[in-house]
Amino acid sequence: MNGPAAVEIIRFDHRHHAHLLPGYVSLYQRVYAQAPWNEYLMCSRHRHDHPAVGLTEAADPESVACAICGAPLMVYWPADEVRSDIEGDLRHPHASLHLAVTGQQVVGLAVGYALPLGQMDRKLRLPGTTAALKTFFGTQSDEMEVAYFSDIAVDPAFRRNHIARRLFLDRLRVFAEARVWYGVTRTKGDPEPSVTYKWYTSDGMGFTVVNRYDDDRGRVVLAKRIIDLFCLLGGPYVPPEEGK
Ligand SMILES: CC(C)(COP(=O)(O)OP(=O)(O)OC[C@H]1O[C@@H](n2cnc3c(N)ncnc32)[C@H](O)[C@@H]1OP(=O)(O)O)[C@@H](O)C(=O)NCCC(=O)NCCS
Ligand SMILES: [Zn+2]
Repeated sequence: MNGPAAVEIIRFDHRHHAHLLPGYVSLYQRVYAQAPWNEYLMCSRHRHDHPAVGLTEAADPESVACAICGAPLMVYWPADEVRSDIEGDLRHPHASLHLAVTGQQVVGLAVGYALPLGQMDRKLRLPGTTAALKTFFGTQSDEMEVAYFSDIAVDPAFRRNHIARRLFLDRLRVFAEARVWYGVTRTKGDPEPSVTYKWYTSDGMGFTVVNRYDDDRGRVVLAKRIIDLFCLLGGPYVPPEEGK
């Protein structure tokens, strides 16, 4: 049976869930192959400098050449790269990967980890982000850890069933337990907002734009005092300790 009731949310643990990694990789590749990312194929010689934008998932990487230089195309997100990226992400403090699973099929993913506020300029490769976040959160501390919500994605066939919300809340719980009160994420906001942007800025979530990239990809940095969302986790609310 498909449907929201049959979908289980798990916190990924390598010791028990290694068999789900191929499903994670496949979902990641499928979501990034779609608009607005269109990261399906790219030029094997010039990589991201000559992406194969416009080709659909029906295109065979072996049979099509780069429209700019003629070199063969390659898969934009090779499986081993997706795997090593997630392994790197999971080495950060308070990192976790949450999966939505039905049977053996992975239909949703959410990743996040904590980073010191002072590292956000470098992490996001956008000068001024740390300063903008300090103003937004009302802190001067470079050491204060913020919750970075990395990727979130749900299989198109399973969307609008609150699976992303369930994944996000599971991820949020880990940050709440770690006493990380402030959240940051990045997605495409301009000129046509991505679905992820609509999702993060929807009423229940309430993230707001704190910084913008000055390039043609339209990406924005979003932030939110996630401590304001902890009430959604149910159970008793644990107030922050004095001075923390
Ligand atoms: C964003 C995304 C994760 C949302 O997943 P989802 O499971 O469909 O979202 P939910 O059902 O939890 O939605 C919760 C709320 O968000 C808002 N929302 C979700 N999708 C929306 C959309 N397409 N437009 C406007 N609001 C939306 C709604 O308020 C919704 O509540 P409602 O259904 O009760 O009205 C999903 O659309 C997706 O995977 N998109 C592609 C993400 C992507 O590109 N990821 C890679 C880069 S990070
Ligand atoms: Zn090329």
